[in-house]
Amino acid sequence: ISASQDAEPGTDGALTRAGGVRGEADMTLDSEELAEIGLRFEVDGEIATITLDRPDKRNAQTSATWSALAQIGRTLPEQVRVVVVRGEGPSFSAGIDRRMFTPEGVPGQGSFASAAALDGGTLEERIAEFQQGFLWLRRPDIVSIAAVQGHAIGAGFQLALACDLRILADDAKFCMKEPALGLVPDLTGTKPLVDLIGLARAVEICLTARVVEAEEALRLGLAEQVVPGEELSAATRRLAAALLTTDRDAAAATKRLLQSAGGRTLEEQSAAERAEQAVRIRALFGGRPAGSE
Ligand code: CAA
Repeated sequence: ISASQDAEPGTDGALTRAGGVRGEADMTLDSEELAEIGLRFEVDGEIATITLDRPDKRNAQTSATWSALAQIGRTLPEQVRVVVVRGEGPSFSAGIDRRMFTPEGVPGQGSFASAAALDGGTLEERIAEFQQGFLWLRRPDIVSIAAVQGHAIGAGFQLALACDLRILADDAKFCMKEPALGLVPDLTGTKPLVDLIGLARAVEICLTARVVEAEEALRLGLAEQVVPGEELSAATRRLAAALLTTDRDAAAATKRLLQSAGGRTLEEQSAAERAEQAVRIRALFGGRPAGSE
């Protein structure tokens, strides 16, 4: 979060400009640029993998991480149907880079102190931009899977919550630490958390900032699967492969239906099912047979 939002592309403030890294909506980040930010991005057929790759700092996230995630979402190759989000090393992510709390901040990205100097509207715009790094993971045309080992704290927990599905290694530990630091979870995590585990449990977990270990996470519905650590990659690959067995367009339409079910009445949802199915039937069977009118 930087006050230097007017910086030119390529300068230190570029990562905080509206529109993402370098301010170019359609610019793909190359692997060197991603490596500088502590990310890797690989595409293998219909599966894309985003790796948080600063293991020596437990994959701590900066505003550059979030802008880059948003840019990956904006430029995701069309063939991709499954996005895996994983972390290198012993922890999925230790959350926001603690340098943000220091007066010096993260070089080129400012600090909470520089963010505090922004006017309210600008500050919220900056946060909205960072939230874009998380929100696209819910797109109906993809399924996102967080593969989580070790700690997923604060922004790390929220990144896991931003994904559709979570596979956990048995040493995984979730913690929503923000309230303990005087902040709120603002990287889109509060809604999926409440949707998954209910208001009361979400209040208890967030307002105590306690650790939720893998087995409890599974029991609460915060994880689809818990596996031994050494099996995390293989289990994630298996799930990704299983998700690719269904028809691409039917999967996207079904995800749209499932995502909107909670906000609709039964009648409204039934109508939405009819509308989606009519599209599917026409696409599959080619419209009305000749002479049927
Ligand atoms: N930011 C920057 N560096 C971090 C970091 C973070 N969040 N977390 C760990 N590191 C660094 C450590 O400083 C250390 O670096 P050095 O080797 O250079 O000293 C290195 O990563 C390894 O850390 P540990 O030795 O502590 O590793 P560990 O495996 O024993 O413990 C941990 C891991 C439990 C995650 C612990 O590092 C930790 O508690 N980290 C801080 C977690 C935290 O408070 N995050 C902020 C959450 S709030 C948020 O994310 C959202 C928000 O908006 C505020």
